[in-house]
Amino acid sequence: MGFAIILMCLLFYSSFTTISEAQQAFKCTERTTCRSLVGYKSPNTTSISSIQKLFGVKNLHSLLGANNLRSSTSPNYMIQEQQVIKIPIPCICFNGTGASNKMPIYTVQPDDGLYYIANNVFMGLLPYQRIQQVNKIENANEIDVGQELWIPLPCSCEEVEGERVVHYAHLVEEGSTVEEIAEKFGTTNDTLYRLNGITNNSQLIAATAFDVPLKACNSSVRSDSMDSPFLVPNNTYFFTAKNCVKCKCDAANNWILQCEPSGNKPSNRSTCPAMQCEGGSLTIGNTATSGCNTTTCAYAGFSGDQNIFTTPATQSTCPVTTAPGGSPGNFASRIGLSRNYLFICIHMILFLVYLL
Ligand SMILES: *[C@@H]1O[C@H](CO)[C@@H](O)[C@H](O)[C@H]1NC(C)=O
Ligand SMILES: *[C@@H]1O[C@H](CO)[C@@H](O)[C@H](O)[C@H]1NC(C)=O
Ligand SMILES: *[C@@H]1O[C@H](CO)[C@@H](O)[C@H](O)[C@H]1NC(C)=O
Ligand SMILES: *[C@@H]1O[C@H](CO)[C@@H](O)[C@H](O)[C@H]1NC(C)=O
Ligand SMILES: *[C@@H]1O[C@H](CO)[C@@H](O)[C@H](O)[C@H]1NC(C)=O
Ligand SMILES: *[C@@H]1O[C@H](CO)[C@@H](O)[C@H](O)[C@H]1NC(C)=O
Ligand SMILES: *[C@@H]1O[C@H](CO)[C@@H](O)[C@H](O)[C@H]1NC(C)=O
Ligand SMILES: *[C@@H]1O[C@H](CO)[C@@H](O)[C@H](O)[C@H]1NC(C)=O
Repeated sequence: MGFAIILMCLLFYSSFTTISEAQQAFKCTERTTCRSLVGYKSPNTTSISSIQKLFGVKNLHSLLGANNLRSSTSPNYMIQEQQVIKIPIPCICFNGTGASNKMPIYTVQPDDGLYYIANNVFMGLLPYQRIQQVNKIENANEIDVGQELWIPLPCSCEEVEGERVVHYAHLVEEGSTVEEIAEKFGTTNDTLYRLNGITNNSQLIAATAFDVPLKACNSSVRSDSMDSPFLVPNNTYFFTAKNCVKCKCDAANNWILQCEPSGNKPSNRSTCPAMQCEGGSLTIGNTATSGCNTTTCAYAGFSGDQNIFTTPATQSTCPVTTAPGGSPGNFASRIGLSRNYLFICIHMILFLVYLL
């Protein structure tokens, strides 16, 4: 009897939920892969390792890095009920939609239904119809205990406003507005409206995933590197080059990625390859100052498991008269400076004219 009621509720519900599907499938037209993030609101107080297991995150470090938790954090570290934790996922774009690439895999438990799995286990990050679709389940009410389901979490690899970004599937809070979300994640309301294909706040649906582009630090990583495009968003860190290099992004550092040898054991060799810049005096992360120039040995990517690329990145605070070079930031401040000069000069001339 109870089962029949649940079944009827499900049928009734499903006739209404197809509407919200459009908002939850993130657009992703390029046929490519990338790293993406989803925001999971834990329904109970639980250890970070059980969340790692639920989402099939291979490496605890990538989960810690995405949340800027110390890399020495224990797998038993507790995540509080209702706390939001960012889950890193590999994203694949296919047929105009982004989905977590063949993961996580969820094993059906007794009394589970697709609706329950989508909304009470994965907390509304995706509509249950997406699970049904990708697993080719004909009847949503017929799933078997022990059956393994691919949960295609929403994600995207698309550039936004011509910029490479990390897409974050944000779970919309009851009563929040697009403007609040834009403010919280350092983007604009216009970008969010356009990206999510909505025009006003009344189309924002609580407890569904909303596509938020996170600006990433600018790096020197080559396009032929195995981790390209290498995008690390503000206030996160990431281990790369088979665990040999740790890179972090801090917006306060001019959005320039900061990398250093991780000091970790590499994933499948006994030692990490050399990480020296040309000339050999600087290692990744080291800086040398020469007059007004500061040169950092920057991480530029890796290939196979033998090579880590490096490149010297110079930031110049030299006066305007020297040759071009230096970061755009400095260039901008130089323009600012010369404008001020001009302003002061004009006023001095006016003052002189007045005196005469
Ligand atoms: C691609 O998407 C279209 C419409 O969104 C759908 O009709 C079609 O079945 C999809 N193709 C595959 C192979 O999933
Ligand atoms: C927390 O909730 C999840 C999903 O409902 C469940 O699988 C897990 O067993 C719960 N953990 C605890 C410690 O209650
Ligand atoms: C979006 O933000 C701009 C500036 O922050 C504001 O002027 C505009 O009214 C906002 N748009 C909406 C629809 O609220
Ligand atoms: C919001 O958009 C919907 C659908 O486009 C429209 O029906 C509704 O009138 C709009 N509401 C406001 C306040 O503009
Ligand atoms: C990084 O900065 C350079 C200019 O300094 C710019 O050409 C490039 O597009 C930027 N890359 C990213 C990913 O923002
Ligand atoms: C970067 O992250 C820090 C720490 O969370 C935050 O205080 C700062 O506002 C963020 N900056 C931007 C531009 O998002
Ligand atoms: C490490 O793994 C790569 C593939 O990921 C493999 O090609 C390489 O031979 C491995 N190196 C060692 C030393 O096992
Ligand atoms: C700083 O770098 C610029 C070009 O990168 C070079 O022309 C200049 O001589 C350097 N200045 C010093 C003091 O090293």
